[in-house]
Amino acid sequence: MSLARRLKNIVRAVVPPSLRVRLHYFRRYQDYVWRPRQGVQHGQDVFDYQDYVWIRRQALQYSEDNLFTLNAAPFLNEENFLRAYNFGAQTNSWHGLSIRWRAYIACWAAAYASKLDGDFVECGVNRGGLARAIIDYTGFERLNKRFYLIDTFSGLVPTYLSEEEKKKGILSAYSYYNDNSAKIVEETFAQFENVKIVQGSVPDVLWSLQINRVAFLSLDMNCTIPEIRAAEYFWPRMCPGGVMILDDYGSLLHCEQQKAFDDFARDRSVQVLVLPTGQGLIFKSGGT
Ligand SMILES: C[S@@+](CC[C@H](N)C(=O)[O-])C[C@H]1O[C@@H](n2cnc3c(N)ncnc32)[C@H](O)[C@@H]1O
Repeated sequence: MSLARRLKNIVRAVVPPSLRVRLHYFRRYQDYVWRPRQGVQHGQDVFDYQDYVWIRRQALQYSEDNLFTLNAAPFLNEENFLRAYNFGAQTNSWHGLSIRWRAYIACWAAAYASKLDGDFVECGVNRGGLARAIIDYTGFERLNKRFYLIDTFSGLVPTYLSEEEKKKGILSAYSYYNDNSAKIVEETFAQFENVKIVQGSVPDVLWSLQINRVAFLSLDMNCTIPEIRAAEYFWPRMCPGGVMILDDYGSLLHCEQQKAFDDFARDRSVQVLVLPTGQGLIFKSGGT
Protein backbone atom coordinates (compact mmCIF):
# COMPACT_ATOMS: atom_id res chain seq x y z
CA MET A 1 0.00 0.00 0.00
CA SER A 2 1.34 3.43 -0.93
CA LEU A 3 2.25 5.93 1.76
CA ALA A 4 -0.50 8.29 0.56
CA ARG A 5 -3.14 5.54 0.83
CA ARG A 6 -1.86 4.57 4.31
CA LEU A 7 -2.06 8.19 5.47
CA LYS A 8 -5.56 8.46 4.08
CA ASN A 9 -6.64 5.38 6.04
CA ILE A 10 -5.18 6.83 9.23
CA VAL A 11 -7.04 10.11 8.66
CA ARG A 12 -10.25 8.14 8.00
CA ALA A 13 -9.78 6.24 11.25
CA VAL A 14 -9.23 9.28 13.46
CA VAL A 15 -11.22 12.12 11.87
CA PRO A 16 -14.99 11.92 12.44
CA PRO A 17 -17.12 11.74 9.23
CA SER A 18 -18.80 15.14 9.77
CA LEU A 19 -15.40 16.86 9.93
CA ARG A 20 -14.18 14.88 6.88
CA VAL A 21 -17.15 16.17 4.85
CA ARG A 22 -16.30 19.74 5.83
CA LEU A 23 -12.66 19.29 4.93
CA HIS A 24 -13.65 17.75 1.61
CA TYR A 25 -15.77 20.75 0.66
CA PHE A 26 -13.23 23.18 1.97
CA ARG A 27 -10.48 21.61 -0.19
CA ARG A 28 -12.72 21.48 -3.24
CA TYR A 29 -14.23 24.92 -2.99
CA GLN A 30 -11.54 26.95 -1.28
CA ASP A 31 -10.90 28.87 -4.51
CA TYR A 32 -14.43 30.05 -4.38
CA VAL A 33 -14.37 30.71 -0.64
CA TRP A 34 -11.36 33.01 -0.97
CA ARG A 35 -12.38 34.60 -4.27
CA PRO A 36 -16.20 34.76 -4.48
CA ARG A 37 -17.58 35.22 -7.95
CA GLN A 38 -17.65 38.87 -8.93
CA GLY A 39 -21.02 40.52 -8.73
CA VAL A 40 -22.80 37.79 -6.72
CA GLN A 41 -23.59 38.99 -3.22
CA HIS A 42 -24.43 36.22 -0.79
CA GLY A 43 -24.46 36.26 2.96
CA GLN A 44 -22.08 34.04 4.91
CA ASP A 45 -24.61 31.18 4.88
CA VAL A 46 -24.69 30.71 1.12
CA PHE A 47 -22.11 30.20 -1.54
CA ASP A 48 -22.46 29.01 -5.06
CA TYR A 49 -19.96 27.14 -7.12
CA GLN A 50 -20.37 25.64 -10.54
CA ASP A 51 -23.72 23.81 -10.71
CA TYR A 52 -24.57 23.98 -7.01
CA VAL A 53 -25.66 26.48 -4.39
CA TRP A 54 -24.68 25.51 -0.87
CA ILE A 55 -26.80 26.74 1.99
CA ARG A 56 -26.02 26.23 5.64
CA ARG A 57 -28.84 24.06 6.96
CA GLN A 58 -29.37 26.04 10.16
CA ALA A 59 -29.78 29.24 8.13
CA LEU A 60 -32.78 27.87 6.23
CA GLN A 61 -36.02 29.26 7.58
CA TYR A 62 -38.18 27.17 5.29
CA SER A 63 -37.33 24.16 3.13
CA GLU A 64 -40.24 22.18 1.80
CA ASP A 65 -42.48 21.92 -1.26
CA ASN A 66 -39.69 23.11 -3.66
CA LEU A 67 -39.11 26.29 -1.70
CA PHE A 68 -35.90 27.03 0.20
CA THR A 69 -35.33 30.40 1.82
CA LEU A 70 -33.27 32.20 4.42
CA ASN A 71 -35.98 34.82 4.83
CA ALA A 72 -38.42 34.80 7.71
CA ALA A 73 -41.45 32.53 7.70
CA PRO A 74 -43.28 33.94 10.74
CA PHE A 75 -46.50 31.99 10.12
CA LEU A 76 -44.63 28.86 11.26
CA ASN A 77 -44.97 30.28 14.77
CA GLU A 78 -48.52 31.51 14.37
CA GLU A 79 -50.82 29.40 16.53
CA ASN A 80 -53.96 30.12 14.47
CA PHE A 81 -52.29 29.10 11.27
CA LEU A 82 -50.72 25.93 12.68
CA ARG A 83 -54.08 24.79 14.08
CA ALA A 84 -55.81 25.47 10.74
CA TYR A 85 -53.04 23.71 8.84
CA ASN A 86 -53.33 20.64 11.06
CA PHE A 87 -57.06 20.44 10.36
CA GLY A 88 -56.23 20.53 6.63
CA ALA A 89 -53.47 17.93 6.88
CA GLN A 90 -55.73 15.55 8.80
CA THR A 91 -57.98 15.21 5.73
CA ASN A 92 -55.04 13.56 3.89
CA SER A 93 -55.69 15.80 0.89
CA TRP A 94 -51.96 16.38 0.47
CA HIS A 95 -50.90 12.74 0.67
CA GLY A 96 -48.34 13.41 3.39
CA LEU A 97 -46.71 16.37 1.60
CA SER A 98 -45.90 19.38 3.71
CA ILE A 99 -47.16 22.52 1.94
CA ARG A 100 -47.32 25.04 4.73
CA TRP A 101 -46.32 28.16 2.78
CA ARG A 102 -48.88 27.43 0.04
CA ALA A 103 -51.55 26.83 2.65
CA TYR A 104 -50.57 30.05 4.41
CA ILE A 105 -50.93 32.07 1.19
CA ALA A 106 -54.39 30.57 0.67
CA CYS A 107 -55.38 31.31 4.28
CA TRP A 108 -54.08 34.86 3.97
CA ALA A 109 -56.04 35.43 0.74
CA ALA A 110 -59.16 33.92 2.30
CA ALA A 111 -58.87 36.12 5.40
CA TYR A 112 -58.54 39.14 3.11
CA ALA A 113 -61.57 38.03 1.05
CA SER A 114 -63.65 37.35 4.16
CA LYS A 115 -64.11 41.14 4.46
CA LEU A 116 -65.46 41.46 0.90
CA ASP A 117 -69.02 41.01 -0.26
CA GLY A 118 -69.09 37.57 -1.93
CA ASP A 119 -68.95 33.81 -1.50
CA PHE A 120 -65.96 31.47 -1.58
CA VAL A 121 -65.44 28.82 -4.28
CA GLU A 122 -62.87 26.08 -4.72
CA CYS A 123 -62.64 24.06 -7.95
CA GLY A 124 -60.44 21.04 -7.25
CA VAL A 125 -61.02 19.99 -3.65
CA ASN A 126 -59.74 16.43 -3.32
CA ARG A 127 -60.32 15.55 0.36
CA GLY A 128 -60.80 19.20 1.25
CA GLY A 129 -57.44 19.93 2.89
CA LEU A 130 -57.09 23.52 1.76
CA ALA A 131 -60.76 24.30 2.33
CA ARG A 132 -60.67 22.81 5.83
CA ALA A 133 -57.63 24.94 6.72
CA ILE A 134 -59.29 28.08 5.32
CA ILE A 135 -62.51 27.42 7.23
CA ASP A 136 -60.66 27.17 10.51
CA TYR A 137 -58.35 30.12 9.80
CA THR A 138 -61.19 32.49 8.85
CA GLY A 139 -63.78 31.17 11.33
CA PHE A 140 -65.87 30.61 8.22
CA GLU A 141 -68.93 29.23 10.02
CA ARG A 142 -69.44 32.68 11.56
CA LEU A 143 -69.30 34.50 8.20
CA ASN A 144 -72.38 35.41 6.23
CA LYS A 145 -71.04 33.56 3.19
CA ARG A 146 -71.16 30.23 1.49
CA PHE A 147 -68.17 28.10 0.52
CA TYR A 148 -68.75 25.97 -2.60
CA LEU A 149 -66.46 22.96 -2.92
CA ILE A 150 -66.58 21.66 -6.49
CA ASP A 151 -64.94 18.43 -7.66
CA THR A 152 -65.69 15.27 -9.63
CA PHE A 153 -64.42 13.45 -6.51
CA SER A 154 -63.21 10.84 -8.97
CA GLY A 155 -60.17 12.53 -10.51
CA LEU A 156 -59.32 14.42 -13.69
CA VAL A 157 -61.63 14.32 -16.71
CA PRO A 158 -59.81 12.87 -19.76
CA THR A 159 -61.81 14.91 -22.29
CA TYR A 160 -60.66 18.10 -20.56
CA LEU A 161 -56.96 17.42 -20.91
CA SER A 162 -55.00 19.22 -23.62
CA GLU A 163 -52.89 17.22 -26.09
CA GLU A 164 -49.75 18.41 -24.32
CA GLU A 165 -51.08 17.27 -20.92
CA LYS A 166 -52.02 13.89 -22.39
CA LYS A 167 -48.51 13.54 -23.83
CA LYS A 168 -47.00 14.37 -20.44
CA GLY A 169 -49.05 11.56 -18.87
CA ILE A 170 -50.89 13.91 -16.50
CA LEU A 171 -53.84 11.52 -16.23
CA SER A 172 -51.82 8.60 -14.93
CA ALA A 173 -49.57 10.89 -12.87
CA TYR A 174 -52.67 11.93 -10.91
CA SER A 175 -54.52 8.62 -10.94
CA TYR A 176 -54.39 8.69 -7.14
CA TYR A 177 -57.23 11.22 -7.22
CA ASN A 178 -59.54 8.65 -8.85
CA ASP A 179 -60.43 6.92 -5.61
CA ASN A 180 -61.65 10.11 -4.07
CA SER A 181 -64.85 9.91 -2.16
CA ALA A 182 -67.50 12.59 -2.00
CA LYS A 183 -68.84 10.82 1.07
CA ILE A 184 -65.65 11.37 3.08
CA VAL A 185 -65.63 15.05 2.08
CA GLU A 186 -69.28 15.40 3.07
CA GLU A 187 -68.45 13.96 6.49
CA THR A 188 -65.51 16.35 6.93
CA PHE A 189 -67.68 19.40 6.29
CA ALA A 190 -71.01 18.17 7.73
CA GLN A 191 -70.63 20.42 10.78
CA PHE A 192 -70.45 23.58 8.61
CA GLU A 193 -73.91 24.62 7.42
CA ASN A 194 -72.58 27.25 5.02
CA VAL A 195 -70.32 24.81 3.11
CA LYS A 196 -71.85 23.30 -0.04
CA ILE A 197 -70.30 20.23 -1.64
CA VAL A 198 -70.87 20.07 -5.39
CA GLN A 199 -70.04 16.86 -7.23
CA GLY A 200 -69.55 17.35 -10.95
CA SER A 201 -67.15 18.10 -13.73
CA VAL A 202 -65.86 21.65 -14.24
CA PRO A 203 -66.89 23.47 -16.38
CA ASP A 204 -70.14 21.52 -17.11
CA VAL A 205 -71.49 21.71 -13.57
CA LEU A 206 -70.98 25.48 -13.20
CA TRP A 207 -74.11 26.57 -15.10
CA SER A 208 -76.35 24.58 -12.75
CA LEU A 209 -75.13 26.60 -9.74
CA GLN A 210 -76.55 29.86 -8.49
CA ILE A 211 -73.29 31.53 -7.51
CA ASN A 212 -73.57 35.20 -8.32
CA ARG A 213 -70.97 37.01 -6.26
CA VAL A 214 -67.55 35.58 -5.51
CA ALA A 215 -64.88 37.09 -3.24
CA PHE A 216 -62.46 34.14 -3.17
CA LEU A 217 -61.82 31.61 -5.92
CA SER A 218 -59.28 28.80 -5.59
CA LEU A 219 -58.44 26.87 -8.77
CA ASP A 220 -56.54 23.63 -8.25
CA MET A 221 -57.50 20.97 -10.80
CA ASN A 222 -54.02 20.25 -12.16
CA CYS A 223 -55.16 20.75 -15.77
CA THR A 224 -55.57 23.84 -17.93
CA ILE A 225 -58.92 23.68 -19.74
CA PRO A 226 -61.20 23.34 -16.70
CA GLU A 227 -59.23 25.98 -14.80
CA ILE A 228 -59.41 28.55 -17.58
CA ARG A 229 -63.08 27.81 -18.22
CA ALA A 230 -63.81 28.22 -14.51
CA ALA A 231 -61.86 31.50 -14.43
CA GLU A 232 -63.83 32.77 -17.45
CA TYR A 233 -67.10 31.73 -15.82
CA PHE A 234 -66.41 33.31 -12.43
CA TRP A 235 -64.57 36.49 -13.49
CA PRO A 236 -67.73 38.50 -14.25
CA ARG A 237 -69.19 37.17 -10.99
CA MET A 238 -66.24 38.28 -8.86
CA CYS A 239 -66.74 41.31 -6.64
CA PRO A 240 -64.35 44.29 -6.90
CA GLY A 241 -61.14 43.36 -5.09
CA GLY A 242 -62.01 39.63 -5.26
CA VAL A 243 -59.03 37.28 -5.32
CA MET A 244 -58.32 34.27 -7.49
CA ILE A 245 -55.62 31.86 -6.35
CA LEU A 246 -54.01 29.55 -8.91
CA ASP A 247 -52.31 26.62 -7.25
CA ASP A 248 -50.49 25.28 -10.33
CA TYR A 249 -49.50 28.55 -12.03
CA GLY A 250 -45.73 28.37 -11.43
CA SER A 251 -45.36 24.61 -11.55
CA LEU A 252 -43.04 23.57 -14.39
CA LEU A 253 -45.12 20.43 -14.94
CA HIS A 254 -48.11 22.68 -15.59
CA CYS A 255 -46.30 25.36 -17.63
CA GLU A 256 -49.20 25.41 -20.10
CA GLN A 257 -51.36 26.93 -17.35
CA GLN A 258 -48.94 29.79 -16.89
CA LYS A 259 -49.27 30.86 -20.50
CA ALA A 260 -53.05 30.39 -20.50
CA PHE A 261 -53.51 32.48 -17.35
CA ASP A 262 -51.15 35.19 -18.57
CA ASP A 263 -53.36 35.50 -21.70
CA PHE A 264 -56.48 35.40 -19.53
CA ALA A 265 -55.15 38.18 -17.30
CA ARG A 266 -53.89 40.34 -20.18
CA ASP A 267 -57.32 40.19 -21.87
CA ARG A 268 -58.80 41.60 -18.66
CA SER A 269 -56.09 44.23 -18.10
CA VAL A 270 -54.77 42.64 -14.93
CA GLN A 271 -51.58 40.76 -14.12
CA VAL A 272 -50.88 37.47 -12.40
CA LEU A 273 -48.65 37.83 -9.35
CA VAL A 274 -46.34 34.80 -9.38
CA LEU A 275 -45.27 33.61 -5.95
CA PRO A 276 -42.20 31.58 -4.99
CA THR A 277 -44.56 28.85 -3.76
CA GLY A 278 -45.57 28.24 -7.40
CA GLN A 279 -48.99 29.82 -6.86
CA GLY A 280 -50.37 32.72 -8.85
CA LEU A 281 -52.67 35.45 -7.53
CA ILE A 282 -55.07 37.61 -9.53
CA PHE A 283 -57.02 40.44 -7.95
CA LYS A 284 -60.09 41.78 -9.65
CA SER A 285 -59.25 45.44 -9.57
CA GLY A 286 -61.68 48.23 -10.46
CA GLY A 287 -64.45 47.46 -12.87
CA THR A 288 -62.59 45.08 -15.21
C1 LIG B 1 -54.70 18.83 -6.53
S1 LIG B 1 -56.27 18.13 -6.15
C2 LIG B 1 -57.03 19.42 -5.20
C3 LIG B 1 -56.38 19.59 -3.85
C4 LIG B 1 -57.08 20.58 -2.94
N1 LIG B 1 -57.17 21.90 -3.53
C5 LIG B 1 -56.34 20.70 -1.62
O1 LIG B 1 -55.30 21.39 -1.57
O2 LIG B 1 -56.75 20.11 -0.64
C6 LIG B 1 -57.03 18.20 -7.73
C7 LIG B 1 -58.52 17.83 -7.74
O3 LIG B 1 -59.09 18.34 -8.95
C8 LIG B 1 -60.14 17.47 -9.31
N2 LIG B 1 -60.45 17.72 -10.74
C9 LIG B 1 -59.62 17.62 -11.80
N3 LIG B 1 -60.25 17.94 -12.94
C10 LIG B 1 -61.51 18.28 -12.60
C11 LIG B 1 -62.65 18.73 -13.35
N4 LIG B 1 -62.62 18.90 -14.67
N5 LIG B 1 -63.80 18.98 -12.67
C12 LIG B 1 -63.86 18.83 -11.31
N6 LIG B 1 -62.82 18.42 -10.57
C13 LIG B 1 -61.65 18.14 -11.19
C14 LIG B 1 -59.62 16.07 -8.99
O4 LIG B 1 -60.68 15.18 -8.80
C15 LIG B 1 -58.80 16.32 -7.71
O5 LIG B 1 -59.55 16.02 -6.57
